[in-house]
Amino acid sequence: MALSFAHDIRPLFRDQDIACMTPYGFDLSQLSDVRMNAALIYERLAEKTMPQDGAWSDENIAKFKQWLDDGMAE
Ligand code: HEM
Repeated sequence: MALSFAHDIRPLFRDQDIACMTPYGFDLSQLSDVRMNAALIYERLAEKTMPQDGAWSDENIAKFKQWLDDGMAE
């Protein structure tokens, strides 16, 4: 089954990620904002410069990439 935002991706964003990034122009809790900024978000996750206080596991980074490549399902 394809990965979905609600089930697979949204839970990866913590409250502090959402709070930190909203002033930078996107709300990580909102599908529309994550879709619009997905390439930029993936770039930061993959280079491990975001989240600032600790990179995601390679497994979760790969999960985000797969969700992106599969068309960013709701
Ligand atoms: C999964 C979590 C996070 C993601 C996906 C994320 C993503 C991003 C992205 C894509 C940018 C570049 C924005 C742009 O160029 O317009 C950025 C910048 C920034 N983020 Fe995050 N972020 C996350 C968590 C955090 C947290 C927890 C903090 C604070 C502790 C933070 C603080 C910042 C700051 C200060 C910048 C601007 C400076 C810079 O570009 O390095 N972010 N983030």
